Amino acid sequence: MRGCAKIRGSRALKLDERGPPNIHRSVCMTSSTFSEPHSSGLPYYQELARKGEVHFEPSREMYLVLSHRLVRRVLTDPHTFSCRNGIENVFKDATSAPALLGLDPPDHTRLRALAASAFTPQTVARLKRCTYELAHRVLNEVIEAGAMDVVADISDKLPLMVIAGILGLPRDDWKHFLRWSHYIAAAAAPTVTREKEADHRGPLLEMRRYLLAEIEDRRTRPMEDLLSRFVHADVEGARLDTEEVLSLTMLLVSAGHGTTANGIGQGIRWLLAHPDQLDKLRRDRRLLPTAVEEILRYDPPMYMVPRVVTRTVDLEGHTLEEGDRLLYVAATANRDENVFSYPDQFDITRDPNPHLSFGYGIHFCLGAALARQEMRAALDVILDRCLHLERADTAPLEHGGAVHLNGLKHLRVRFQPGAQCSVDVAAA
Ligand code: HEM
Repeated sequence: MRGCAKIRGSRALKLDERGPPNIHRSVCMTSSTFSEPHSSGLPYYQELARKGEVHFEPSREMYLVLSHRLVRRVLTDPHTFSCRNGIENVFKDATSAPALLGLDPPDHTRLRALAASAFTPQTVARLKRCTYELAHRVLNEVIEAGAMDVVADISDKLPLMVIAGILGLPRDDWKHFLRWSHYIAAAAAPTVTREKEADHRGPLLEMRRYLLAEIEDRRTRPMEDLLSRFVHADVEGARLDTEEVLSLTMLLVSAGHGTTANGIGQGIRWLLAHPDQLDKLRRDRRLLPTAVEEILRYDPPMYMVPRVVTRTVDLEGHTLEEGDRLLYVAATANRDENVFSYPDQFDITRDPNPHLSFGYGIHFCLGAALARQEMRAALDVILDRCLHLERADTAPLEHGGAVHLNGLKHLRVRFQPGAQCSVDVAAA
């Protein structure tokens, strides 16, 4: 294996030197603010944002970066605001390789280039028909009932089926992926405790065993799928080792699921809460692209994301030292009135819409094109086939999933079944 030493060289770092990847767990956020459903927590963050672009929370010993301008500054300076130092590896129970999301250049650059080739807008456009077919397939299971839980019946399934297909894993295993993805998200939450961490170990090892079997299979029987590409990839003359393939695959399953599921669920929620906008979209489906961007801006699937400071730096009068931790808050950056007119207004025609829900800079969401396509397909198919869509109850919506993600536990709706599906779902 030509050039293996290069990658192995970087992997030869001791785990604690390399520092763990994406979400810091040593900062425990115990305030009730962080456990409230995000839509009710937003006024609190907006109030902080009105007071200043940076806020220090002494009880949690961390900074919140709240304005659009400063979030962009943080994200365009990965050397100062690192994903790496002091951040533990969220997959550490399942693999020793750090997640892409937690790497800094140059390791990040090499791995990202490999994974990115599978998610270019052109590659994703070729998956459009398949995404629509899968959206029809999941809706077929509930359409006759005239009622569904958007979270359980659509948004938890579709993204997992899509990513399973891209990786070359059986789509019908989505239930396993769902369980594992929930554990990964919970393990990554900033509120996780040491005791809770132990609960995640078993399921993550289960996921490891499952994926190891698939990886071994692709070594001897390469197929036309992303997993085979990872296994046989030549990255600057080096091969990825099994742990790196595991880490990348686990990231795609988890990053590809929770966020997109939240985007679909919140999309239906906010359209139902704004009947004029829902009506506009029903009448003109060409608005789907701007509608999806507005949903992402208005209620970002990932509310806040961590970074660790690597050197002394001034942020709007706050002196941050090496090792200080911060969260960039996409939710307030997306409501920054210096960038968005009438930021609290939900307007599906808003254009331009430079929201930061997919991040910015070198870690900009790799799956953004895919996520947009999945959200468009889900909304389009639901609007086509579910007439007179409305909430099935008036109970307050509960926050679901990990605290840093912006999901709903349930979103129960009822409707009148509309047009039959005209695409060949059996072929999906
Ligand atoms: C609406 C859906 C999604 C949202 C809101 C979202 C959001 C994000 C954000 C905010 C980041 C940057 C995190 C940071 O700055 O540290 C990110 C990175 C990432 N996302 Fe997404 N994501 C979504 C869907 C997806 C999908 C469908 C996939 C793939 C199947 C995916 C894969 C990734 C990966 C691999 C990264 C890491 C990129 C890197 O470190 O270079 N995401 N995402």
